Amino acid sequence: MAHNQTVEKFVSSIGITLDRFIAQKQADFSYAKGELSQLLRDIALAAKIINKEIMRSGLIDIEGSAGDTNVQGEEQQKLDVVANVRYIRALTKGGEVCAIVSEEEEDMIDTGNHNAKYIVSMDPLDGSSNIDVNMPIGTIFSVYRRKTPVGTPPTLEDALQKGNEQVAAGYVLYGSSNILVYTTGKGVNGFTYDHSIGEFILSHVNIQTPKDGSIFSYNEGNVNDLADGFKTYIADCRSKKMSARYVGSLVADFHRNMLKGGVFFYPATGKSPNGKLRLLHECNALAFIIEQAGGKSTDGKQRTLETQPTSLHQRVPLIIGSANMVDKIVDLIK
Ligand code: AHG
Ligand code: MN
Ligand code: MN
Repeated sequence: MAHNQTVEKFVSSIGITLDRFIAQKQADFSYAKGELSQLLRDIALAAKIINKEIMRSGLIDIEGSAGDTNVQGEEQQKLDVVANVRYIRALTKGGEVCAIVSEEEEDMIDTGNHNAKYIVSMDPLDGSSNIDVNMPIGTIFSVYRRKTPVGTPPTLEDALQKGNEQVAAGYVLYGSSNILVYTTGKGVNGFTYDHSIGEFILSHVNIQTPKDGSIFSYNEGNVNDLADGFKTYIADCRSKKMSARYVGSLVADFHRNMLKGGVFFYPATGKSPNGKLRLLHECNALAFIIEQAGGKSTDGKQRTLETQPTSLHQRVPLIIGSANMVDKIVDLIK
């Protein structure tokens, strides 16, 4: 007894691992039989593998263009392709999803697991243009319960659900350290990756975003294309000497703003009349998370989460972040 107490003092706890946290939270869902927990663990496993590959990019032949374009006509980077394959494999082998919708795949993927209850929509690698220059990049995912009966092949009805139907959503940020952030609709928690033991450890408990912030994030190169309300807002931010911050990886810009307080916007531009970001792969997951953290997300007219998707790769304008900042922009662009 005395011995144990002495030892305890010198051996500090490693904290709560993601696996243990997920297992503890499973009791929150009366309907859940553990499949969603397994699905989240499958995503975490793929995240660890991708992270390992990112850490070595530059050393192994993984940087640069894959020589192909994706369904949206964007040049695919090798890591886009690698991340896409890793996540699809982990989710398919994990057995908990009947279908996957990926930014890198034209059509919905039927995993063949027709007895599975869930469907995942994802951006396997967000911030592709930052891969080759050692900047932060990410992965974004949304989980929905299927609409079609278990045991049948999934259909587009399963994929084209509103964001407010999400049962879980999250992202992984491969940054100065790696963090996995997710919500199941009961708050937002973040888990920092401990390389030495290969585990994500709870580091950010019940994240809440400030109602106001002093960071504004948008692509300055598009400013001439923006509606007048945005220009007025930007002028106001400048007059208040607020901080302009734009990484160009949505996950990184979003994560910083959520923790510090700020707003990110990617509205309609001449080149992209509906904005650039994709409703199913990027916007819905982050909208679910920011609302859980006390912030807001809208296209300027309606909540992102209330948008009825009509196609898999649909783009929507996005204004997301601290509640008062989002409200102010929406007021100005009315
Ligand atoms: P992806 O790499 O998945 O195609 O996403 C890139 C996105 C997003 O991460 C970022 O916010 C935005 O593109 C930046 O776009 P601009 O370069 O037009 O500012
Ligand atoms: Mn992206
Ligand atoms: Mn991407």
